[in-house]
Amino acid sequence: MQQEKLRELLADMSLPEKIGQLVQLSGEFFQSKDISYGPIQKLGISQEAIDLTGSVLNVTGAHATKQLQEQQMAKQPHHIPVLFMADVIYGFKTIFPIPLGLGATWDPELVQQAFRIAGNEAAASGNQVSFAPMVDVTHDPRWGRTLESPGEDALLNARMATAMVTGFQTDLAEKAGQVSCVKHFAAYGGVEAGREYNSADMSLSNLYQNYLPPYKAAVDAGCEMVMTSLSTLNGVPGTADKWLLQDVLKKQWGFDGVLISDYASVYELVKHGYATDDRDSALKALDAGLDIDMKSPVYANELQGLVEDGSLSEDRIDQACWRVLQLKNKLGLFEDPYFGTSEEAEKKINLTADKRALARKVAAESLVLLQNKNDILPLTGAEKVALIGPYADEKSLIGMWAVHGDPADCVTIKEALQEELGERLTYTRGTDISRDKEKLRGLGFLTDEMITQVVSDDETEQKHHDEALKNAQAADVVIYAVGEHSFEAGEAGSKTNLHLPDNQVNLLNDLHGLGKKIVLVNISGRPLVLSNVTDKTDAIIQAWFPGTEGGLAIADVILGKVSPSGRLSMTFPYTEGQEPLYYAHLSTGRPQDGSQHVGRFVSRYIDAPTAPLYAFGYGLSYAQVEYGKIKLEKDKLSANDTLKVSIELTNASNWQQKETVQVYFHDDAASIVQPVKRLIDFKKVVLAPHSKQIVTFAIPAMYFSFYDNQGESILEPGTFHLFVGANSQDVASATFEILDK
Ligand code: GLC
Repeated sequence: MQQEKLRELLADMSLPEKIGQLVQLSGEFFQSKDISYGPIQKLGISQEAIDLTGSVLNVTGAHATKQLQEQQMAKQPHHIPVLFMADVIYGFKTIFPIPLGLGATWDPELVQQAFRIAGNEAAASGNQVSFAPMVDVTHDPRWGRTLESPGEDALLNARMATAMVTGFQTDLAEKAGQVSCVKHFAAYGGVEAGREYNSADMSLSNLYQNYLPPYKAAVDAGCEMVMTSLSTLNGVPGTADKWLLQDVLKKQWGFDGVLISDYASVYELVKHGYATDDRDSALKALDAGLDIDMKSPVYANELQGLVEDGSLSEDRIDQACWRVLQLKNKLGLFEDPYFGTSEEAEKKINLTADKRALARKVAAESLVLLQNKNDILPLTGAEKVALIGPYADEKSLIGMWAVHGDPADCVTIKEALQEELGERLTYTRGTDISRDKEKLRGLGFLTDEMITQVVSDDETEQKHHDEALKNAQAADVVIYAVGEHSFEAGEAGSKTNLHLPDNQVNLLNDLHGLGKKIVLVNISGRPLVLSNVTDKTDAIIQAWFPGTEGGLAIADVILGKVSPSGRLSMTFPYTEGQEPLYYAHLSTGRPQDGSQHVGRFVSRYIDAPTAPLYAFGYGLSYAQVEYGKIKLEKDKLSANDTLKVSIELTNASNWQQKETVQVYFHDDAASIVQPVKRLIDFKKVVLAPHSKQIVTFAIPAMYFSFYDNQGESILEPGTFHLFVGANSQDVASATFEILDK
C-alpha cells in the first residue's frame, strides 16, 4: 500500500481500532490451538477489544492462520490483517541445537544457514515474526534460559545475533522469511543468582561492554522488532525503561522498528512496584516507547481512558499504531493477508532431507569433546558397545523452547548407532533421567500420569540397572547417555544443583567398577557440574539439546565420521558455589596467581578451586592442532591504526579439522579496570590433513577501547597483551602499545 494510502487509513481509524493494533493475544482468545507458555489467565478484555486485536501469539499452520486471518479481518472495521508472531528460537519443524550449542559451533555462517531454514519453514506455516534471536549474555548456568542464549561472551553473542537476524530475514521479500524480534532488551541474562525473573543490577560500563553489544548487533543487522525484558535493570523494568528504549535503542542506535513487551510484562509493572495500577502501567509503558502489549489487559483496557481524560495525547497512540501498520505494509499483508501461505506448500517444505542434513551438520559442529583419555574416541566401529542411559533411546532431544517442533521427528542416539553397529550394539535404559517425582511435578509441565511413565517403579529400575551391568560386562566400551530433563532447562528452569541426578551418578559408579571404557554423553540446556564424573569416565561429550538430528550427529562424532570442533560458549564450573563464573573476569588486587600475597590472603575459596572445570572456548578435537608464535606487523599503533596479527597452525594428523582460532586481549592499566581477557576476534578455519595454514586478523585499534560509566567508549594509550589460541586458557601471547595520539 502506498504511504499516503496508509496515512489515510490511520487517519480514518477510530481510537479503539488504533489501540487494537497495540494489543497481542494468544490463540485461546480466537478459538485457535494455543501453545503459548506462561500464565494463562482470563484477562478481563472485552470481546470488542479481542475483535480489534492486531497481532496473535504462537498460532501457526497454514490452515489455522488463514482461518484466523479471515475471522479477524471480517471483524475489523478497516479489515486490517493481523500479524502472526511465534517463538521460533532455534528452528520451526527442523530443530537445530539450542542456541548455547549454536554458540559452541563458533560458526556464524553455518548458524545463518540454519536460521534461514527456520525462517522458510515458519513463513510457510503463516507466521511472520519470530521472537528470536535471544542474545542475552549470561554468566550463570543456574539460570535456565542459558539454553536460549549463544553464551557468556558479548562478541560471540553479537556475531551470532548478526547471523541469526540475517538468516531469518534473508527471504523476507519473497514471503519465505521471518521478521526477527531480538530479545530480551536488556540484560535479562544478568538476573541475580541466576534466579528466573530476578533483578539485574550493574554499572553502565558493565552494561555497555558486556551486555548491550549483541542487541546492537541485531539492530545493526536490521532486525525489525525488539522485545523488552520481563526483568528490571538497575531498578527499572525493561518494558517501561524510557532511557533504555528511547535514549539507547532509538536515539543512540537509530532503531525505528516495533517494540513489543514480553508476555504480560506491562501487566507486571504493578507487581514490580513501578506502577500504582494498570492505568499507570499503560501510561508509563507507552510513554517509554512500548508499541505492543503482549498478553495483558493493560493497553486494551486503559489507553482509551487516558486519551479521553487528556492524560495521554492521541498522537502517541498514532505513532505506535503507525509503526505497526508500517510493518504490516512492509510485509505486503494488505495485498496478501495470507503471506503467500498454502497448505500444499507447507506440507512440502518441512523436515526435508536437505534440511535434516543441515541440522545434522550443525549439531555435529555444536558437540564439545570435553575429555578423551588415551584417545579412546573415535571408536573404530569394531568394538562391542553397550549403550546405556535414559537419553540413549530418548526422542526428547529438542529442548524446552522448540515449541513448534516435535520430538517424534528426532533420531535417537540408539537409532543412529544401531544403523552403524548392528549386532555389536546392545542397549538398555539403565536408569531414568530423574527419579525425583517431586522435582518433576514441580516443573509444571508433567501430569502425574506422565511422571509415572518417566519414573520407573523400583523393580523395573533394578532390572534396568542389572541389565546395564550385564551388557557392560559383555562389551568393550560403554556409551552412557545422561543429562537433565528437557523441562528443567529453559524459561523458569532456574536450579541451584547443577550436578547430574544421584541415580545417574550411582549407575555410573557401578559401571566404572567393571573397569570398562566409558564415554559419557551429556544432554543439557546449560553447563552442568561434571567434576564428580571426570574420573569415572574416559571420554565426555557435551551434546546440549542437539535437535532433530542430534542422535546422528552424536554417532558421527563417536564413530569418527567427523572430528569434533565445538568449543564451549559458556564456562563449566567445578561447583555451583563458584557461580557466576566467567572467563572475562577482573584480576582483583590479589589474584590467586601472580599476586604479591601468598597462601590464604588471595582471591580464592577455601573449599573449592577458583578455576572452572572447563574454560570458555575449550573443546578437544581428534586432530591436535599446533599453534605457532604470534606475529604482529607492528607493535606500536596510533588510535586509527589496525593491528595486523598472524599465526601459523599445523595439523600433523590424518584428520580434516575445523579449528576456531580465538583472539583475546588485556588492557594492562585503564581508568576502569579491564578483564584479564576479552575476546576481540575469532575465525573458524578448515585444516586439511598434514597441512599448515597461516591465519590472519586485522583489528582496528579502536576495538581495544572500553566503556566508561557514562556509556562512552574510551581508548586509552598504554600497553596491551594479545592472546591467540584454541581456547581462553591455552594461548600464545604478545605485547603491543597504543600510543598517545
Ligand atoms: C515468554 C518469554 C519470551 C517469549 C514470550 C512469548 O515468557 O519470556 O521469550 O517470546 O513469552 O512466548
